[in-house]
Amino acid sequence: MHNIRNITDSIIYVGANDRRADIFEGTYPIPDGMAYNSYLIKDEKTVLMDTVDKSVADIFYANVKAALDGRDLNYVVVQHMEPDHSATLEGLLIRYPEAKVITNAKTVPMIKQFFDFDFDSRVEIVKEGDVFSTGSHELTFVMAPMVHWPEVMLTYDKTQKVLFSADAFGSFGALNGNIFMDPGEYVLYVDEARRYYANIVGKYGAPVQMLLKKAAQLDIRVIAPLHGPILSEDLGYYIGLYDTWSSYTAESKGVFIAVASIHGNTLAAARKLEALLLEKGEERVVVSEISREDMAEIVEDAFRHDRMVLAASSYDGGVFLPMHDLLTHLSYKGFQNRKVGILENGSWAPSAARTIKGLLEPMKGVEVLEPVVTIRSTLKDADLPQLEALADALIEAGK
Ligand code: FEO
Repeated sequence: MHNIRNITDSIIYVGANDRRADIFEGTYPIPDGMAYNSYLIKDEKTVLMDTVDKSVADIFYANVKAALDGRDLNYVVVQHMEPDHSATLEGLLIRYPEAKVITNAKTVPMIKQFFDFDFDSRVEIVKEGDVFSTGSHELTFVMAPMVHWPEVMLTYDKTQKVLFSADAFGSFGALNGNIFMDPGEYVLYVDEARRYYANIVGKYGAPVQMLLKKAAQLDIRVIAPLHGPILSEDLGYYIGLYDTWSSYTAESKGVFIAVASIHGNTLAAARKLEALLLEKGEERVVVSEISREDMAEIVEDAFRHDRMVLAASSYDGGVFLPMHDLLTHLSYKGFQNRKVGILENGSWAPSAARTIKGLLEPMKGVEVLEPVVTIRSTLKDADLPQLEALADALIEAGK
């Protein structure tokens, strides 16, 4: 059974939702499923914009067939070779033996890496700025290397002012009925788009900035990403979010406290710091226990807020492993430009703060606030002046 919908009079949505998967890319929780978008331009030529993940292959093939409505497929544009968009490429080309692949030169070796299939006679190479006419639509190609793979390109439909944006502006979550952004759900979209951005694209802020500069030259009315809803209103707002995220600028003023606590005593101290901050007038404080929550959400919160506190137990001469794990994630994702407080606990010789500092040290623009607070096993009244001083430093850093 197919499920297709028109985006414009000549662009048809042929993507599909996977509502049964629990994780994306083998690691990121997707409690609301995942959308794999694909679009058919139906003009004098028929042109498919990317394929989909193999988990939704059956409905995708049915959708393409229904959208073509008896016509043949002439072209498929490959904007990105990650398997969530290309795993069904070979199957598609077998079903439509006359269809040609339009892509850039960097993609071709990747196609051959993923598929043992003779593509050479079926590929047409395009480069930055090339124009391809489908009849009434004119498509131009915008190279976007490292957003977030080397071969990524975007496609701009000059005629209908649609930007096919590959993974950019994507989000976690299946589409619920409305394939366009539902204004009533924009908070959920932004939360999941931010979690997606920080964890999947986060390292590649500079390439995203370059892409945004190119996009600023285009008159865009619709953004059609490969995941999540199609954006057709308030585009300046969403582009502004991407600008914030990709420039490693905090989106929200507030203190994010990430906690790695073995027996709950470090957590209790972190909660006391939260209370002190709120008493002192901080409006937004978010506390997360790393080992109990989705790491992707924690990375998202670290990117989102302008200040962070790392509260951790000492462990095996270093730091309790959930905190080490978080800092490894942040390092991989290019985390930078934040003010960070440290609260360590040690029942033996405290070692968490030293280890945390060492892991923060290579991160660009990360400033450790003074004082670094050390407690021994449990928070005591005698520790409160130190904790107060850290709270004051955090408040001051937020001004
Ligand atoms: Fe949605 Fe980078 O693949």
